[in-house]
Amino acid sequence: MTGMTPDAAGPTVINRYESPAAWRDVDAYFSALLVPEDDALVAARESGAATTMPNAEVAPNQGALLGLLTHLSGARRVLEFGTLAGYSTIWFARAVGPQGRVVTLELEEHNAQIARTNLRRAGVREWVDVQVGPAAESAQRLIDDGAEPFDLVFIDADKPSNPAYLAAALRLTTSGAVIVIDNVVRDGAVTDRDSDEPRVQGVRAVAQDIATNPELDATALQTVGIKGWDGVIIARRR
Ligand code: DHB
Ligand code: MG
Repeated sequence: MTGMTPDAAGPTVINRYESPAAWRDVDAYFSALLVPEDDALVAARESGAATTMPNAEVAPNQGALLGLLTHLSGARRVLEFGTLAGYSTIWFARAVGPQGRVVTLELEEHNAQIARTNLRRAGVREWVDVQVGPAAESAQRLIDDGAEPFDLVFIDADKPSNPAYLAAALRLTTSGAVIVIDNVVRDGAVTDRDSDEPRVQGVRAVAQDIATNPELDATALQTVGIKGWDGVIIARRR
């Protein structure tokens, strides 16, 4: 993992831990004002430190965005690639409510156990299905089982697999579905066409796939804040 020391900051360093104070202050201001977290969300966010990918969970104001997108799109069924401690999972689960369903795919049993505890504490465990194993395999199982289509898909797992996850998402959704992809800016590294960083190539490849898919309307937004300089792609299936 790069960029964990303050003096390592630079345009090509993937650095989600060090943000300018002003970015952090603005996140803190709006999150405190607009994004109240209950104890369960705080515990889930803090337990991210105990996962195999410490502190990779979305920021509180980003979690709220995911919840709002879920509400705004009227989504009832959400599929998430990459659970970790289940912080974003809680936002989705609360947005769809007990009549909805969230299926979240996590590689590591260790992380899944942390997530299940957090989901239980948040009161959403009953309508969240945590599936452990390589997400591509779990998604293929959903396809093979003829899973009911999902209304919103959040792709936030290992970045080199982004194109495979998008392909799976397209087999698990129908018209009107929303697809959100996290971490598509990476301190600006996304514009480096010659990058030998597999995560950057995974983002560029999935962006290319979206660009050439006439069924997908999409945009990408840069974000700055406590997670550094990053961004999301938001797409909608026609
Ligand atoms: C990474 C993954 C994430 O989902 C994230 O939000 C930040 C970083 C990573 O793979 O480095
Ligand atoms: Mg992420």
